[in-house]
Amino acid sequence: MSAQDFNLPGTQFEKLSGEAVPVTLAHGDGIGPEIMEASLKILEAAGAHIAFEKIDIGERVYNAGHSAGITPDAWESLRRTGVFFKAPITTPQGGGFKSLNVTIRKSLGLYANTRPCLSLTPFVDTKHPGVDVLIVRENEEDLYAGIEHRQTQDVYQCLKLISRPGCEKIIRFAFEYARAHGRKKVSCFTKDNIMKLTDGLFHKVFDEIKVEYPEIETDHWIIDIGTARLADTPEIFDVIVTSNLYGDIISDVAAQITGSVGLGGSSNVGQHAAMFEAVHGSAPDIAGQNIANPSGLILASVLMLQHIGQPEVAERVHNAWMKTIEDGVHTGDIYKEGRSAEKVGTKEFADAVIERLGQEPKILAKASYQTGRAFELPEVAKPEPQKKELVGIDVFCDWDGSADALAEQLQGSATSKVKLEIITNRGVKVWPEGIPETFCTDHWRCRFSAEDFSNADVAELLTAFATAGIDFVKTEHLYNFDGERGYSLGQGQ
Ligand code: NAI
Ligand code: MG
Repeated sequence: MSAQDFNLPGTQFEKLSGEAVPVTLAHGDGIGPEIMEASLKILEAAGAHIAFEKIDIGERVYNAGHSAGITPDAWESLRRTGVFFKAPITTPQGGGFKSLNVTIRKSLGLYANTRPCLSLTPFVDTKHPGVDVLIVRENEEDLYAGIEHRQTQDVYQCLKLISRPGCEKIIRFAFEYARAHGRKKVSCFTKDNIMKLTDGLFHKVFDEIKVEYPEIETDHWIIDIGTARLADTPEIFDVIVTSNLYGDIISDVAAQITGSVGLGGSSNVGQHAAMFEAVHGSAPDIAGQNIANPSGLILASVLMLQHIGQPEVAERVHNAWMKTIEDGVHTGDIYKEGRSAEKVGTKEFADAVIERLGQEPKILAKASYQTGRAFELPEVAKPEPQKKELVGIDVFCDWDGSADALAEQLQGSATSKVKLEIITNRGVKVWPEGIPETFCTDHWRCRFSAEDFSNADVAELLTAFATAGIDFVKTEHLYNFDGERGYSLGQGQ
Protein backbone atom coordinates (compact mmCIF):
# COMPACT_ATOMS: atom_id res chain seq x y z
CA MET A 1 0.00 0.00 0.00
CA SER A 2 1.37 3.38 -0.85
CA ALA A 3 -0.22 5.68 1.64
CA GLN A 4 1.47 8.59 -0.08
CA ASP A 5 -1.27 8.51 -2.63
CA PHE A 6 -3.35 10.77 -0.53
CA ASN A 7 -0.80 13.47 -1.05
CA LEU A 8 -1.87 16.30 -3.34
CA PRO A 9 -0.25 19.38 -4.81
CA GLY A 10 0.66 22.13 -2.36
CA THR A 11 -1.31 25.35 -2.38
CA GLN A 12 -1.16 28.97 -1.46
CA PHE A 13 -2.21 27.95 2.05
CA GLU A 14 1.22 26.61 2.85
CA LYS A 15 2.38 30.12 3.49
CA LEU A 16 -0.44 30.67 5.99
CA SER A 17 1.03 28.19 8.46
CA GLY A 18 0.20 29.35 11.96
CA GLU A 19 -3.15 30.79 10.95
CA ALA A 20 -6.32 28.73 10.69
CA VAL A 21 -7.01 27.91 7.04
CA PRO A 22 -10.42 29.08 5.80
CA VAL A 23 -12.42 26.21 4.31
CA THR A 24 -16.00 26.26 3.04
CA LEU A 25 -18.13 23.51 4.54
CA ALA A 26 -21.46 21.94 3.55
CA HIS A 27 -23.33 19.30 5.56
CA GLY A 28 -25.38 18.10 2.57
CA ASP A 29 -28.46 15.88 2.58
CA GLY A 30 -29.43 12.37 3.65
CA ILE A 31 -26.57 10.85 5.65
CA GLY A 32 -24.51 13.99 4.89
CA PRO A 33 -25.01 15.76 8.26
CA GLU A 34 -24.23 12.58 10.26
CA ILE A 35 -21.02 11.69 8.46
CA MET A 36 -19.96 15.35 8.40
CA GLU A 37 -20.41 15.71 12.16
CA ALA A 38 -18.37 12.52 12.66
CA SER A 39 -15.59 13.82 10.39
CA LEU A 40 -15.50 17.28 11.99
CA LYS A 41 -15.25 15.81 15.46
CA ILE A 42 -12.21 13.79 14.36
CA LEU A 43 -10.62 16.80 12.64
CA GLU A 44 -11.03 18.88 15.77
CA ALA A 45 -9.62 16.18 18.04
CA ALA A 46 -6.68 15.66 15.67
CA GLY A 47 -5.74 19.33 15.87
CA ALA A 48 -6.63 20.44 12.34
CA HIS A 49 -6.14 24.17 12.08
CA ILE A 50 -9.14 25.16 9.98
CA ALA A 51 -11.65 28.02 10.10
CA PHE A 52 -14.80 26.54 8.57
CA GLU A 53 -17.39 28.70 6.81
CA LYS A 54 -20.66 26.84 6.66
CA ILE A 55 -22.86 27.12 3.56
CA ASP A 56 -26.17 25.55 2.66
CA ILE A 57 -26.41 23.55 -0.58
CA GLY A 58 -28.57 20.77 -1.99
CA GLU A 59 -32.16 19.73 -1.56
CA ARG A 60 -33.43 22.63 0.56
CA VAL A 61 -31.74 25.14 -1.71
CA TYR A 62 -33.11 23.49 -4.87
CA ASN A 63 -36.57 23.49 -3.34
CA ALA A 64 -36.25 27.15 -2.41
CA GLY A 65 -36.08 27.89 -6.13
CA HIS A 66 -32.34 27.89 -6.91
CA SER A 67 -32.25 25.50 -9.87
CA ALA A 68 -28.50 24.89 -9.45
CA GLY A 69 -28.84 23.98 -5.73
CA ILE A 70 -26.57 26.79 -4.54
CA THR A 71 -27.02 30.44 -3.57
CA PRO A 72 -24.92 33.50 -4.55
CA ASP A 73 -23.63 33.80 -0.94
CA ALA A 74 -22.33 30.24 -1.06
CA TRP A 75 -20.47 31.00 -4.28
CA GLU A 76 -18.90 34.00 -2.63
CA SER A 77 -17.54 31.84 0.19
CA LEU A 78 -16.26 29.16 -2.21
CA ARG A 79 -14.43 31.68 -4.35
CA ARG A 80 -12.90 33.33 -1.29
CA THR A 81 -11.64 30.18 0.46
CA GLY A 82 -10.83 28.09 -2.62
CA VAL A 83 -11.27 24.91 -0.55
CA PHE A 84 -14.54 23.05 -0.19
CA PHE A 85 -15.23 20.17 2.21
CA LYS A 86 -18.52 18.74 1.09
CA ALA A 87 -20.91 16.06 2.27
CA PRO A 88 -23.07 14.32 -0.35
CA ILE A 89 -26.25 15.99 -1.47
CA THR A 90 -29.49 14.74 -2.99
CA THR A 91 -30.13 15.87 -6.54
CA PRO A 92 -33.90 16.11 -7.02
CA GLN A 93 -35.11 13.83 -9.82
CA GLY A 94 -36.82 15.28 -12.84
CA GLY A 95 -36.44 18.18 -15.20
CA GLY A 96 -35.02 21.61 -14.53
CA PHE A 97 -32.49 20.70 -11.83
CA LYS A 98 -28.80 20.83 -12.74
CA SER A 99 -26.34 18.57 -10.93
CA LEU A 100 -24.67 20.75 -8.30
CA ASN A 101 -21.53 18.64 -8.35
CA VAL A 102 -21.03 19.14 -12.06
CA THR A 103 -21.80 22.86 -11.74
CA ILE A 104 -19.26 23.37 -8.93
CA ARG A 105 -16.53 21.34 -10.63
CA LYS A 106 -16.90 23.21 -13.89
CA SER A 107 -17.46 26.72 -12.51
CA LEU A 108 -14.38 26.51 -10.29
CA GLY A 109 -12.30 24.75 -12.96
CA LEU A 110 -11.71 21.62 -10.84
CA TYR A 111 -10.39 19.66 -13.78
CA ALA A 112 -8.70 16.75 -12.01
CA ASN A 113 -10.71 14.20 -10.10
CA THR A 114 -8.55 11.73 -8.26
CA ARG A 115 -9.70 8.69 -6.40
CA PRO A 116 -7.26 6.40 -4.60
CA CYS A 117 -8.55 2.81 -4.46
CA LEU A 118 -6.84 0.53 -2.01
CA SER A 119 -7.63 -2.94 -0.62
CA LEU A 120 -7.77 -3.15 3.19
CA THR A 121 -6.94 -6.85 3.32
CA PRO A 122 -7.53 -8.78 5.54
CA PHE A 123 -9.85 -6.39 7.35
CA VAL A 124 -12.40 -5.69 4.62
CA ASP A 125 -13.58 -8.44 2.27
CA THR A 126 -12.41 -8.21 -1.32
CA LYS A 127 -11.71 -10.68 -4.10
CA HIS A 128 -8.66 -8.58 -4.90
CA PRO A 129 -6.31 -8.14 -1.95
CA GLY A 130 -3.64 -6.35 -3.97
CA VAL A 131 -5.52 -3.35 -5.35
CA ASP A 132 -3.62 -0.09 -5.19
CA VAL A 133 -4.87 2.00 -8.09
CA LEU A 134 -5.24 5.73 -8.48
CA ILE A 135 -7.83 6.87 -11.01
CA VAL A 136 -7.25 10.32 -12.49
CA ARG A 137 -10.40 11.42 -14.26
CA GLU A 138 -10.84 14.48 -16.45
CA ASN A 139 -13.60 16.44 -14.80
CA GLU A 140 -14.75 19.30 -17.00
CA GLU A 141 -15.51 18.20 -20.53
CA ASP A 142 -16.37 15.16 -22.65
CA LEU A 143 -20.05 14.12 -22.68
CA TYR A 144 -20.47 15.94 -19.34
CA ALA A 145 -20.49 19.29 -21.10
CA GLY A 146 -24.22 18.66 -20.82
CA ILE A 147 -25.03 19.89 -24.32
CA GLU A 148 -27.96 17.80 -25.48
CA HIS A 149 -30.57 18.37 -28.16
CA ARG A 150 -33.56 16.63 -29.58
CA GLN A 151 -33.40 17.21 -33.31
CA THR A 152 -36.17 15.17 -34.86
CA GLN A 153 -39.08 13.01 -33.78
CA ASP A 154 -36.69 10.04 -33.54
CA VAL A 155 -33.26 11.36 -32.68
CA TYR A 156 -31.58 12.90 -29.61
CA GLN A 157 -27.98 14.02 -29.41
CA CYS A 158 -25.35 14.62 -26.73
CA LEU A 159 -22.18 16.45 -27.71
CA LYS A 160 -18.84 14.99 -26.76
CA LEU A 161 -16.34 17.83 -26.48
CA ILE A 162 -12.65 17.04 -26.02
CA SER A 163 -10.15 19.90 -26.07
CA ARG A 164 -6.39 19.87 -26.45
CA PRO A 165 -5.84 22.03 -23.33
CA GLY A 166 -8.24 19.77 -21.41
CA CYS A 167 -6.23 16.68 -22.42
CA GLU A 168 -2.90 18.35 -21.69
CA LYS A 169 -3.95 19.48 -18.21
CA ILE A 170 -5.25 16.12 -17.03
CA ILE A 171 -2.50 14.00 -18.58
CA ARG A 172 0.23 16.24 -17.19
CA PHE A 173 -1.49 16.13 -13.80
CA ALA A 174 -1.41 12.31 -13.89
CA PHE A 175 2.29 12.18 -14.75
CA GLU A 176 3.30 14.89 -12.27
CA TYR A 177 1.32 13.09 -9.59
CA ALA A 178 2.96 9.77 -10.44
CA ARG A 179 6.40 11.34 -10.36
CA ALA A 180 5.82 13.18 -7.06
CA HIS A 181 4.55 10.03 -5.35
CA GLY A 182 6.88 7.41 -6.74
CA ARG A 183 4.18 5.71 -8.80
CA LYS A 184 5.73 3.48 -11.45
CA LYS A 185 3.26 3.40 -14.29
CA VAL A 186 0.57 5.51 -15.96
CA SER A 187 -2.06 3.82 -18.15
CA CYS A 188 -4.28 5.72 -20.58
CA PHE A 189 -7.82 4.46 -21.32
CA THR A 190 -9.67 5.60 -24.48
CA LYS A 191 -11.89 4.29 -27.25
CA ASP A 192 -9.86 5.75 -30.09
CA ASN A 193 -10.42 2.80 -32.39
CA ILE A 194 -13.96 4.19 -32.80
CA MET A 195 -13.72 7.89 -31.86
CA LYS A 196 -10.61 8.68 -33.84
CA LEU A 197 -10.76 12.46 -33.47
CA THR A 198 -11.90 12.99 -29.86
CA ASP A 199 -10.46 9.95 -28.09
CA GLY A 200 -7.71 9.97 -30.70
CA LEU A 201 -6.66 13.40 -29.42
CA PHE A 202 -6.54 12.18 -25.81
CA HIS A 203 -4.32 9.26 -26.82
CA LYS A 204 -2.13 11.46 -29.00
CA VAL A 205 -1.56 14.01 -26.22
CA PHE A 206 -0.75 11.12 -23.85
CA ASP A 207 1.90 9.93 -26.32
CA GLU A 208 3.30 13.46 -26.65
CA ILE A 209 3.56 14.06 -22.90
CA LYS A 210 4.78 10.62 -21.77
CA VAL A 211 8.21 11.13 -23.35
CA GLU A 212 8.85 13.89 -20.78
CA TYR A 213 8.62 11.26 -18.02
CA PRO A 214 11.03 8.55 -19.16
CA GLU A 215 11.26 6.95 -15.70
CA ILE A 216 7.53 6.17 -15.72
CA GLU A 217 6.27 3.12 -17.57
CA THR A 218 3.22 3.75 -19.78
CA ASP A 219 0.63 1.83 -21.73
CA HIS A 220 -2.66 2.45 -23.50
CA TRP A 221 -5.82 0.35 -23.25
CA ILE A 222 -9.02 0.43 -25.23
CA ILE A 223 -11.57 1.21 -22.52
CA ASP A 224 -13.62 -1.99 -22.79
CA ILE A 225 -10.79 -4.48 -22.37
CA GLY A 226 -9.04 -2.11 -19.95
CA THR A 227 -12.12 -2.07 -17.71
CA ALA A 228 -12.42 -5.85 -17.93
CA ARG A 229 -8.80 -6.22 -16.81
CA LEU A 230 -9.28 -3.65 -14.05
CA ALA A 231 -12.16 -5.71 -12.69
CA ASP A 232 -10.25 -8.98 -13.05
CA THR A 233 -6.52 -8.30 -12.56
CA PRO A 234 -6.33 -4.83 -10.98
CA GLU A 235 -2.79 -5.40 -9.77
CA ILE A 236 -1.45 -4.71 -13.29
CA PHE A 237 -2.53 -1.07 -12.96
CA ASP A 238 -1.00 1.77 -10.98
CA VAL A 239 -2.23 5.21 -12.14
CA ILE A 240 -4.98 5.32 -14.79
CA VAL A 241 -5.75 8.56 -16.62
CA THR A 242 -8.91 8.85 -18.70
CA SER A 243 -11.68 11.15 -19.87
CA ASN A 244 -14.77 12.10 -17.90
CA LEU A 245 -17.39 9.43 -18.65
CA TYR A 246 -14.96 6.50 -18.70
CA GLY A 247 -13.37 7.82 -15.51
CA ASP A 248 -16.74 8.02 -13.81
CA ILE A 249 -17.42 4.38 -14.61
CA ILE A 250 -14.00 2.87 -13.94
CA SER A 251 -13.52 4.76 -10.68
CA ASP A 252 -16.62 3.03 -9.32
CA VAL A 253 -15.34 -0.31 -10.61
CA ALA A 254 -11.97 0.29 -8.96
CA ALA A 255 -13.53 1.39 -5.65
CA GLN A 256 -15.98 -1.51 -5.57
CA ILE A 257 -13.35 -4.20 -6.09
CA THR A 258 -11.43 -2.91 -3.06
CA GLY A 259 -14.47 -3.84 -0.98
CA SER A 260 -16.92 -0.97 -0.92
CA VAL A 261 -17.56 2.34 -2.63
CA GLY A 262 -18.55 3.50 0.88
CA LEU A 263 -14.85 3.66 1.82
CA GLY A 264 -13.71 6.01 -0.90
CA GLY A 265 -12.67 9.64 -0.67
CA SER A 266 -11.94 11.81 -3.65
CA SER A 267 -10.53 15.18 -4.54
CA ASN A 268 -11.39 17.59 -7.32
CA VAL A 269 -8.50 19.91 -7.95
CA GLY A 270 -7.97 22.88 -10.24
CA GLN A 271 -5.63 25.84 -10.59
CA HIS A 272 -7.69 28.05 -8.23
CA ALA A 273 -9.71 25.77 -5.97
CA ALA A 274 -10.26 22.24 -4.71
CA MET A 275 -13.18 20.22 -3.42
CA PHE A 276 -13.02 17.14 -1.19
CA GLU A 277 -15.86 14.67 -0.81
CA ALA A 278 -16.83 11.05 -0.31
CA VAL A 279 -17.34 8.98 -3.41
CA HIS A 280 -20.84 7.81 -2.43
CA GLY A 281 -24.12 9.72 -2.46
CA SER A 282 -26.52 10.86 0.24
CA ALA A 283 -27.92 7.34 0.90
CA PRO A 284 -31.45 8.51 1.83
CA ASP A 285 -32.37 4.86 2.56
CA ILE A 286 -30.23 4.85 5.72
CA ALA A 287 -30.33 8.56 6.66
CA GLY A 288 -30.92 9.58 10.27
CA GLN A 289 -30.23 6.11 11.71
CA ASN A 290 -26.62 6.55 12.85
CA ILE A 291 -25.53 3.57 10.74
CA ALA A 292 -23.72 5.22 7.78
CA ASN A 293 -20.01 4.62 7.40
CA PRO A 294 -18.24 8.00 7.64
CA SER A 295 -14.97 6.60 6.22
CA GLY A 296 -15.33 8.07 2.71
CA LEU A 297 -15.66 11.58 4.10
CA ILE A 298 -12.92 11.00 6.69
CA LEU A 299 -10.52 9.92 3.92
CA ALA A 300 -11.61 12.94 1.88
CA SER A 301 -10.60 15.08 4.87
CA VAL A 302 -7.19 13.38 4.82
CA LEU A 303 -6.80 14.49 1.18
CA MET A 304 -7.90 17.99 2.18
CA LEU A 305 -5.43 18.22 5.06
CA GLN A 306 -2.66 17.39 2.61
CA HIS A 307 -3.88 20.03 0.23
CA ILE A 308 -3.99 22.81 2.83
CA GLY A 309 -0.52 21.99 4.08
CA GLN A 310 -1.27 20.08 7.31
CA PRO A 311 0.34 16.72 6.45
CA GLU A 312 1.04 15.81 10.07
CA VAL A 313 -2.66 16.07 10.91
CA ALA A 314 -3.50 14.09 7.78
CA GLU A 315 -1.15 11.34 8.93
CA ARG A 316 -2.60 11.28 12.42
CA VAL A 317 -6.18 10.97 11.16
CA HIS A 318 -5.37 8.37 8.50
CA ASN A 319 -3.30 6.19 10.81
CA ALA A 320 -5.95 6.30 13.55
CA TRP A 321 -8.59 5.43 10.97
CA MET A 322 -6.56 2.43 9.74
CA LYS A 323 -5.98 1.27 13.32
CA THR A 324 -9.74 1.43 13.93
CA ILE A 325 -10.35 -0.71 10.83
CA GLU A 326 -7.61 -3.15 11.93
CA ASP A 327 -9.12 -3.39 15.41
CA GLY A 328 -12.31 -4.64 13.79
CA VAL A 329 -14.42 -1.65 14.83
CA HIS A 330 -16.70 -1.61 11.80
CA THR A 331 -19.93 0.03 10.66
CA GLY A 332 -22.67 -2.27 9.37
CA ASP A 333 -21.72 -2.00 5.69
CA ILE A 334 -18.32 -3.68 6.25
CA TYR A 335 -19.09 -5.61 9.45
CA LYS A 336 -18.61 -9.37 9.19
CA GLU A 337 -19.38 -11.87 11.94
CA GLY A 338 -16.19 -13.59 13.05
CA ARG A 339 -13.79 -11.17 11.42
CA SER A 340 -15.02 -7.85 12.80
CA ALA A 341 -14.81 -7.29 16.55
CA GLU A 342 -17.57 -4.77 17.08
CA LYS A 343 -20.45 -3.38 15.04
CA VAL A 344 -20.74 0.35 15.66
CA GLY A 345 -22.78 3.32 14.53
CA THR A 346 -21.54 6.45 12.80
CA LYS A 347 -20.91 8.38 16.04
CA GLU A 348 -19.26 5.45 17.81
CA PHE A 349 -16.98 4.85 14.83
CA ALA A 350 -15.83 8.48 15.03
CA ASP A 351 -15.21 8.10 18.77
CA ALA A 352 -13.17 4.95 18.11
CA VAL A 353 -11.00 6.85 15.62
CA ILE A 354 -10.54 9.69 18.11
CA GLU A 355 -9.48 7.21 20.82
CA ARG A 356 -6.78 5.94 18.47
CA LEU A 357 -5.33 9.31 17.44
CA GLY A 358 -1.58 8.97 17.85
CA GLN A 359 -1.63 5.22 17.14
CA GLU A 360 -0.52 3.50 13.95
CA PRO A 361 -1.77 0.46 12.08
CA LYS A 362 0.15 -2.81 12.60
CA ILE A 363 -0.52 -4.62 9.33
CA LEU A 364 -1.74 -2.00 6.87
CA ALA A 365 1.07 0.26 5.72
CA LYS A 366 1.11 3.36 7.84
CA ALA A 367 0.41 6.71 6.27
CA SER A 368 3.33 9.05 5.92
CA TYR A 369 2.74 12.33 4.18
CA GLN A 370 5.44 14.62 5.41
CA THR A 371 7.94 13.63 2.74
CA GLY A 372 5.54 13.82 -0.21
CA ARG A 373 6.56 16.42 -2.74
CA ALA A 374 4.06 19.08 -3.79
CA PHE A 375 4.05 19.80 -7.50
CA GLU A 376 3.22 22.80 -9.60
CA LEU A 377 1.36 22.29 -12.83
CA PRO A 378 2.73 24.32 -15.71
CA GLU A 379 0.33 26.61 -17.58
CA VAL A 380 -0.91 25.05 -20.80
CA ALA A 381 1.19 26.38 -23.69
CA LYS A 382 -0.68 28.10 -26.50
CA PRO A 383 -0.06 26.10 -29.68
CA GLU A 384 1.04 27.57 -33.01
CA PRO A 385 -2.06 28.68 -34.94
CA GLN A 386 -2.93 26.28 -37.76
CA LYS A 387 -4.39 27.11 -41.15
CA LYS A 388 -8.11 26.34 -41.06
CA GLU A 389 -9.78 25.74 -44.41
CA LEU A 390 -13.51 25.25 -44.96
CA VAL A 391 -13.93 22.39 -47.44
CA GLY A 392 -17.58 21.46 -47.09
CA ILE A 393 -20.58 21.16 -44.86
CA ASP A 394 -22.76 18.49 -43.29
CA VAL A 395 -26.41 19.50 -43.36
CA PHE A 396 -28.58 17.34 -41.08
CA CYS A 397 -32.16 17.06 -42.29
CA ASP A 398 -35.40 15.91 -40.73
CA TRP A 399 -36.88 13.85 -43.56
CA ASP A 400 -39.61 11.27 -43.75
CA GLY A 401 -38.87 9.46 -46.99
CA SER A 402 -36.20 7.60 -48.91
CA ALA A 403 -32.55 8.56 -49.23
CA ASP A 404 -32.85 8.72 -53.01
CA ALA A 405 -35.78 11.12 -52.84
CA LEU A 406 -33.91 13.31 -50.34
CA ALA A 407 -30.83 13.36 -52.58
CA GLU A 408 -32.95 14.44 -55.52
CA GLN A 409 -34.54 17.29 -53.54
CA LEU A 410 -31.18 18.47 -52.21
CA GLN A 411 -29.48 18.37 -55.60
CA GLY A 412 -32.37 20.28 -57.14
CA SER A 413 -32.19 23.06 -54.52
CA ALA A 414 -28.46 23.39 -53.74
CA THR A 415 -26.29 26.27 -54.94
CA SER A 416 -23.74 25.63 -57.67
CA LYS A 417 -20.81 25.89 -55.23
CA VAL A 418 -21.49 22.59 -53.51
CA LYS A 419 -21.58 18.96 -54.56
CA LEU A 420 -23.61 16.37 -52.63
CA GLU A 421 -21.10 13.64 -51.73
CA ILE A 422 -22.94 11.27 -49.46
CA ILE A 423 -25.98 10.86 -47.24
CA THR A 424 -25.72 8.84 -44.03
CA ASN A 425 -28.29 7.79 -41.48
CA ARG A 426 -26.93 7.48 -37.93
CA GLY A 427 -23.48 7.54 -39.48
CA VAL A 428 -23.83 4.80 -42.08
CA LYS A 429 -23.93 5.50 -45.82
CA VAL A 430 -27.39 5.25 -47.42
CA TRP A 431 -26.74 7.27 -50.61
CA PRO A 432 -25.35 6.76 -53.18
CA GLU A 433 -25.81 3.01 -53.42
CA GLY A 434 -27.30 2.32 -50.02
CA ILE A 435 -28.60 -1.13 -49.24
CA PRO A 436 -32.21 -1.82 -48.28
CA GLU A 437 -31.27 -3.66 -45.07
CA THR A 438 -30.05 -0.45 -43.38
CA PHE A 439 -32.53 0.73 -40.78
CA CYS A 440 -33.22 4.44 -41.22
CA THR A 441 -34.54 7.08 -38.83
CA ASP A 442 -35.83 10.54 -39.73
CA HIS A 443 -32.37 12.08 -39.19
CA TRP A 444 -30.16 12.35 -42.30
CA ARG A 445 -26.64 13.71 -42.55
CA CYS A 446 -26.10 15.17 -46.02
CA ARG A 447 -22.46 15.92 -46.79
CA PHE A 448 -21.56 18.58 -49.33
CA SER A 449 -18.05 19.29 -50.49
CA ALA A 450 -17.05 22.65 -51.90
CA GLU A 451 -14.06 24.55 -53.11
CA ASP A 452 -13.23 28.05 -52.02
CA PHE A 453 -16.13 27.87 -49.57
CA SER A 454 -17.03 30.54 -47.00
CA ASN A 455 -19.63 31.20 -44.33
CA ALA A 456 -21.39 33.53 -46.79
CA ASP A 457 -21.71 30.53 -49.15
CA VAL A 458 -23.07 28.46 -46.26
CA ALA A 459 -25.72 31.12 -45.56
CA GLU A 460 -26.67 31.17 -49.24
CA LEU A 461 -26.95 27.37 -49.35
CA LEU A 462 -29.15 27.25 -46.27
CA THR A 463 -31.36 30.05 -47.61
CA ALA A 464 -31.84 28.00 -50.79
CA PHE A 465 -32.81 24.94 -48.71
CA ALA A 466 -35.20 27.00 -46.59
CA THR A 467 -36.84 28.34 -49.73
CA ALA A 468 -37.23 24.79 -51.07
CA GLY A 469 -38.84 23.71 -47.78
CA ILE A 470 -36.02 21.35 -46.75
CA ASP A 471 -36.15 20.93 -42.97
CA PHE A 472 -32.51 21.19 -41.90
CA VAL A 473 -32.00 20.73 -38.16
CA LYS A 474 -28.30 21.41 -37.79
CA THR A 475 -25.09 21.90 -39.73
CA GLU A 476 -21.47 21.03 -39.08
CA HIS A 477 -18.65 22.71 -40.97
CA LEU A 478 -15.98 20.49 -42.49
CA TYR A 479 -12.51 21.91 -41.98
CA ASN A 480 -8.98 20.92 -42.80
CA PHE A 481 -6.29 22.11 -40.37
CA ASP A 482 -2.91 22.55 -42.07
CA GLY A 483 -4.27 20.23 -44.74
CA GLU A 484 -5.26 17.49 -42.27
CA ARG A 485 -8.89 16.36 -42.27
CA GLY A 486 -10.73 17.66 -39.22
CA TYR A 487 -13.82 15.43 -39.53
CA SER A 488 -14.57 11.74 -39.73
CA LEU A 489 -15.63 9.94 -42.88
CA GLY A 490 -19.09 8.35 -43.05
CA GLN A 491 -19.17 4.60 -42.36
CA GLY A 492 -19.03 3.10 -45.85
CA GLN A 493 -17.68 6.32 -47.41
P1 NAI B 1 -25.61 6.29 -2.73
O1 NAI B 1 -24.15 6.25 -2.84
O2 NAI B 1 -26.21 7.39 -1.91
O3 NAI B 1 -26.15 4.89 -2.13
C1 NAI B 1 -25.92 3.65 -2.76
C2 NAI B 1 -26.04 2.51 -1.74
O4 NAI B 1 -24.88 2.53 -0.90
C3 NAI B 1 -27.23 2.65 -0.80
O5 NAI B 1 -27.72 1.37 -0.51
C4 NAI B 1 -26.63 3.29 0.44
O6 NAI B 1 -27.33 2.96 1.62
C5 NAI B 1 -25.23 2.71 0.46
N1 NAI B 1 -24.29 3.68 1.04
C6 NAI B 1 -23.83 4.82 0.47
N2 NAI B 1 -22.99 5.46 1.28
C7 NAI B 1 -22.92 4.71 2.40
C8 NAI B 1 -22.20 4.87 3.61
N3 NAI B 1 -21.42 5.93 3.83
N4 NAI B 1 -22.35 3.92 4.56
C9 NAI B 1 -23.13 2.85 4.35
N5 NAI B 1 -23.82 2.65 3.22
C10 NAI B 1 -23.73 3.57 2.26
O7 NAI B 1 -26.19 6.35 -4.21
P2 NAI B 1 -27.68 6.56 -4.74
O8 NAI B 1 -28.64 5.84 -3.86
O9 NAI B 1 -27.62 6.25 -6.17
O10 NAI B 1 -27.95 8.11 -4.64
C11 NAI B 1 -28.64 8.76 -3.57
C12 NAI B 1 -28.59 10.27 -3.78
O11 NAI B 1 -27.24 10.72 -3.69
C13 NAI B 1 -29.11 10.73 -5.13
O12 NAI B 1 -29.90 11.89 -4.94
C14 NAI B 1 -27.86 11.10 -5.88
O13 NAI B 1 -28.09 12.10 -6.83
C15 NAI B 1 -26.96 11.59 -4.78
N6 NAI B 1 -25.51 11.50 -5.06
C16 NAI B 1 -24.75 12.52 -4.61
C17 NAI B 1 -23.38 12.51 -4.77
C18 NAI B 1 -22.61 13.65 -4.24
O14 NAI B 1 -23.14 14.55 -3.62
N7 NAI B 1 -21.30 13.65 -4.45
C19 NAI B 1 -22.70 11.39 -5.44
C20 NAI B 1 -23.59 10.32 -5.84
C21 NAI B 1 -24.95 10.39 -5.66
MG1 MG C 1 -20.00 8.55 -10.44
